[in-house]
Amino acid sequence: MNLSFLRLRNFRNYSDLTCRFSSQGIHVLHGKNAQGKTNLIEAIYYLSHLRSFRTQNQAQMITHGQNFFHMDARIETMRRKEDLKVILMPEKKHLYRWNEPVKKYSDFIGILNAVLFCPDDLMLFQQSPKMRRRFIDMELIKLSRVYTFTLNRYQKLLRQRNAILKNDRFDPILLQTLTNQMIKDQVVILSQREQYLKELMEKTQKFYHFFSKEKEEIDAKYITFVPMDENLEDSIHQAYQKHEKRDRLTHQTQVGIHKDDIDFHMNGISIKDIASQGQKRSLVLSMKLALCQIIYEKQKEYPVLLLDDVFSELDVSRSRQLISILPESMQVFISSTDKLDRSLFQNKDVRYYEIIQGHCKEESR
Ligand SMILES: Nc1ncnc2c1ncn2[C@@H]1O[C@H](COP(=O)(O)OP(=O)(O)OP(=O)(O)O)[C@@H](O)[C@H]1O
Ligand SMILES: [Mg+2]
Repeated sequence: MNLSFLRLRNFRNYSDLTCRFSSQGIHVLHGKNAQGKTNLIEAIYYLSHLRSFRTQNQAQMITHGQNFFHMDARIETMRRKEDLKVILMPEKKHLYRWNEPVKKYSDFIGILNAVLFCPDDLMLFQQSPKMRRRFIDMELIKLSRVYTFTLNRYQKLLRQRNAILKNDRFDPILLQTLTNQMIKDQVVILSQREQYLKELMEKTQKFYHFFSKEKEEIDAKYITFVPMDENLEDSIHQAYQKHEKRDRLTHQTQVGIHKDDIDFHMNGISIKDIASQGQKRSLVLSMKLALCQIIYEKQKEYPVLLLDDVFSELDVSRSRQLISILPESMQVFISSTDKLDRSLFQNKDVRYYEIIQGHCKEESR
């Protein structure tokens, strides 16, 4: 899959930008600090996820002094072409596919499938469990409609259940009905999360060894409130029964997949306690490459890979390793303050775009 055309109006420091990109190969976005390299990566990520990786407040992406931003994009896959449009106003978002309005965000997310690496990803191991759950959810949402539907329903039921628990004179039958559906949904969610994590880590381990030449054992354990075995549904039932009194006392659902976590470890020790910054970087990059591989196996094409500032702290040998394992047919965007010498890319297809104060100029080859 690739992004072949992008137009941004009033997005961050781009008042009106039009870019065309090659269907595959490496696109180097280079320029001095604060010129708009990450802004361009952010726009592509936004088209894929309908959220930013830098801010929760989407209105911040609108150019200062304006009251909307507008994005037009052409996505090409092996099977079809897609014309996407997003118009964001501070209080409203309009989505279009071939100029037809798209009502549900879930029908838009993932049409462009982009995988991002950015320096903040290294925080994954230090952040709250919520961010690690999101790390899994963001990808499963793009890969599985069943997952998206089930997770959305679970979250809605959880809000309803908590609201019921806040009322001391609630209807016990209604509570039980909600709880039963939540239990069923959690079986689906837990199974998919665990399966995905297992597949991701198996592939990550291979990339990590190739990439860093180190022999550490990398793994991740999904941490939840019940044993992950063939009695999963019964165990969840029992856990809910056991906590019902506490749920009523605290007016909150005490157990569930909304509290789960992932423990990433290296040679059996938690990554956050042991890994150096360089090791974390290699590990996160390996996870992103593993994810690209999973997407390729499931969808028969690579996602678009976005690497923001990836080389600033990688040594030369790891930088070369990274370039050498990027599949030829994958469209890759790399932002960098350095122009990155052609020799680094060996014989790969590489194009340079210079970013200067919200303008993007492709350099002739
Ligand atoms: N909403 C906005 N409206 C106008 N300009 C904005 C907005 N948000 C950010 N900017 C500007 O965008 C620029 C930062 O762009 P960006 O983060 O893409 O820089 P960069 O090229 O990636 O730099 P670095 O090399 O330091 O990472 C800053 O000049 C900032 O003032
Ligand atoms: Mg930047």
